[in-house]
Amino acid sequence: MTVPTAVPAGRTAPAAPAAPATPTTSASPASPVVGRPGADLDELIRRDPGAHRVLTGDRPTGPLHLGHYFGTLQNRVRLQRLGIEMFVVVADYQVITDRDLADRLAEHSEGLVLDYLAAGLDPDRATIFAHSAVPALNQLLLPFLSLVSVAELGRNPTVKDEIAHSSQSAVNGLMFTYPVHQAADILFCKANVVPVGQDQLPHLEVARTVARRFNERYPHPDGSGVFPRPEALLSAAPLLLGTDGGKMSKSRGNAVRLSADADTTARLIRGAKTDTDRRITYDPAARPEVSSLVLLAALCQDRAPELVADEIGDGGAAALKRTVTEAVNEHFGPMRARRAELAADRSYIRQVLRDGAERANAVADATLAEVRAVMGSV
Ligand code: TRP
Repeated sequence: MTVPTAVPAGRTAPAAPAAPATPTTSASPASPVVGRPGADLDELIRRDPGAHRVLTGDRPTGPLHLGHYFGTLQNRVRLQRLGIEMFVVVADYQVITDRDLADRLAEHSEGLVLDYLAAGLDPDRATIFAHSAVPALNQLLLPFLSLVSVAELGRNPTVKDEIAHSSQSAVNGLMFTYPVHQAADILFCKANVVPVGQDQLPHLEVARTVARRFNERYPHPDGSGVFPRPEALLSAAPLLLGTDGGKMSKSRGNAVRLSADADTTARLIRGAKTDTDRRITYDPAARPEVSSLVLLAALCQDRAPELVADEIGDGGAAALKRTVTEAVNEHFGPMRARRAELAADRSYIRQVLRDGAERANAVADATLAEVRAVMGSV
């Protein structure tokens, strides 16, 4: 894959269902950049949403937090608003290697869908489905595995990293073949745009390689290939630190969940690490903790972080935290209310997943039929 360049794209659209307003600040969340130098994929999508199909997804590992929201969810809602066709995979086959997660699969998968819907994904427009509910997607793994060498898999930096951080002592085959399975996620629906974080680029590169090799090895009689080569849509995710000053992360217990209530939010932010300088400034390099809090308020209020900092002035950490708490609770209030409403009806969430699986299965079956035809399967 070519090294992604930071091509600044257009303004991001508002978060739903909170008050819509187009961000116009440097804190503009998730301004997309593309994985191809010089190409403004975002602009292309805006001009012709119908020519693009998005596939993205998450592992059901636990409740999403504010970092996820400003890093990816908001961008998905923006893409949805552009009218682009979108598939969102609940990657349940990517968590079964972790025993603790595997034991809470249904809870985490349904929780993930709740977070999606609360953030504004519309199940009538986006196809939300779980890996394990789409057999034809999974069957693509077999021909795809034949196109990738064991040495290539061993070199994959994301796999190496995942293995290094795994609680498992032995690396199992599923973990080793994740990137190829992820290629099946992307290619089953012939997605050509994949919004991901930087850490996922090696996986996307595998999907591109698999698509190219498959098309070369099994050309259509008319010379075309079955699969498009997917492009990464990188979000310039704002760096939000956790309340302890480290990276905001589900597993570190330092994150404010999307679903946290107003009091919990206040408590978590009150306990956030700051520094002793009473004058509040936005200076991420010199004052990472204070600046992250300023940024969080700025993202919620759709304002420049410098402006937020100036307004607090000499108010010190206490005033900063009050501002952040109010901003977060105001911005996420409607989403939380909607989430709570939806959470009361689990049968609806299961229905969303069933409907999504039905649509994904129709697409996967058609792709698998094409794959079998060009392979000469009988
Ligand atoms: N591996 C991704 C993650 O850890 C989740 C994922 C699974 C995904 N399949 C995908 C992302 C396909 C993009 C495209 O976040």
